[in-house]
Amino acid sequence: MIEPIAYQKQLEGKSNAHLISFSDGKDYVVKYFQQGFEKTLPNEWISYCLARYLGLPIPFARIIDIPQSFSSQIPELAAMNHTPHQFALTYIPDCLDGHQVLRIPEITNSNELASIIVFDYWLYNSDRTRKNILLQGESENAFRLWAIDHAEVFGTYNWQQDELENLPTGLIKSATHQIMASFIPDEKQLFEQINIIQTIPTFLIEEIVSMIPDEWMVSKEEKKAMVNSLLVRRKKILPDLIQKFVDKIYRPMQNNNPS
Ligand SMILES: Nc1ncnc2c1ncn2[C@@H]1O[C@H](COP(=O)(O)OP(=O)(O)O)[C@@H](O)[C@H]1O
Ligand SMILES: [Mg+2]
Repeated sequence: MIEPIAYQKQLEGKSNAHLISFSDGKDYVVKYFQQGFEKTLPNEWISYCLARYLGLPIPFARIIDIPQSFSSQIPELAAMNHTPHQFALTYIPDCLDGHQVLRIPEITNSNELASIIVFDYWLYNSDRTRKNILLQGESENAFRLWAIDHAEVFGTYNWQQDELENLPTGLIKSATHQIMASFIPDEKQLFEQINIIQTIPTFLIEEIVSMIPDEWMVSKEEKKAMVNSLLVRRKKILPDLIQKFVDKIYRPMQNNNPS
């Protein structure tokens, strides 16, 4: 288990994420369990595991345990809830977000962008804002795009069980999806992604959800509802939704910007 070595700073945003250096020589963005935001960590964790399996461009993450003896010395951490198990995401230095780059000339991993959009529709990620992508400069005109912040999959960071059964089935308003879509070379990539999602073994989805730490207080029934929502959405809702996305967003955009 890695140990925290030095506190760096608090990061902007409602999750109260903290940048901390660890004993493996890396910096991590750490999110603590917070009252009122109870589903942030479960959402981040299952999103991370599913996105990693699907090969989305996301930073590596892990569940960690910061000792209370460390947190209590840092004013910013002393105020946090000391439930064991925090979510830690590898920090990607020197990135800009989608607000800070006015015109993106080229995205080097454009073949990975469809996977982010279809993932967001599968889990109903209501928060793919310009702040929740990172753009890492690879040359003067080209960026690698990373997806971060899955605190608001299933619609919100504090969902209740009945909401999982009634997640919206319409298009998500996201300028970031539009930006990403403009770099997707072929709509086939969006449809292929549905196939990949539909062939994740159900057992694996159940296993991922079952590994949510008990301290994050997701009940057995809520876990069942999470799995059920993922299974129902990937089969019954995702194909129509992505067709809608292609018809209403992807194709009109491609017709306006013939390359
Ligand atoms: N892996 C990362 N690498 C670099 N910066 C990050 C990373 N994760 C988060 N950040 C920065 O921290 C901010 C807050 O993190 P985020 O996961 O978006 O939480 P919030 O729910 O508070 O918006 C982000 O907007 C981004 O600027
Ligand atoms: Mg964010």
